[in-house]
Amino acid sequence: MRIAIFASGRGSNFSAIARAIKKGKIPVKLALLVCDKPQAAVIAKAKRAGVKVVLAKTEEEILRALTEHQIDLIALAGFMRILSPGLVQKYKNKIINIHPSLLPAFKGAKAIEDVFNYGVKVTGVTVHFVDELMDHGPIILQAAVKVEENDTPQALEAKIHKLEHKLYPEALRLFAAGRLEVAGRQVKVTNR
Ligand code: GRF
Repeated sequence: MRIAIFASGRGSNFSAIARAIKKGKIPVKLALLVCDKPQAAVIAKAKRAGVKVVLAKTEEEILRALTEHQIDLIALAGFMRILSPGLVQKYKNKIINIHPSLLPAFKGAKAIEDVFNYGVKVTGVTVHFVDELMDHGPIILQAAVKVEENDTPQALEAKIHKLEHKLYPEALRLFAAGRLEVAGRQVKVTNR
């Protein structure tokens, strides 16, 4: 199985996934980083890890790269661009995303800030399949984080990221092992 990671920013999830693959924890080949921002820090991380980087500005370029590199699984990790319904259909239940809240609460690009400002006491991380709507597809895994009274936004963000770096590799491991069964909105983790 060949995986492409799509990212536009810092790339801490890219690094966590790359590390897990290198350690043999996820039986996939990390074939590609697709990035839409030439200045993104994730590009240097991919190069250092020996992962091919495709800087893509249009969806045609993205599709071409996916076909050329025979990609079976796409992991979105801070990719700040909405994929078209056509691409989502073509890779149905083969595109996974991570979101820094307990969906369906706090969708959108500023979730951690929004969580903090709202004053909730429990938040978390969601890994889900991607469908045509933003932060919406069938949920694979979720994990919770307590918001403590003395947490700053930065402290909360650090806790969320730490959890993301465990949860995302775990979800990808289950996918690669053929252990995720999707029926409608329900995702079952099988024992096989
Ligand atoms: C993560 O918080 C992820 O949940 C969200 O974008 C952020 C990416 O962070 N989708 P990084 O670039 O992996 O450090």
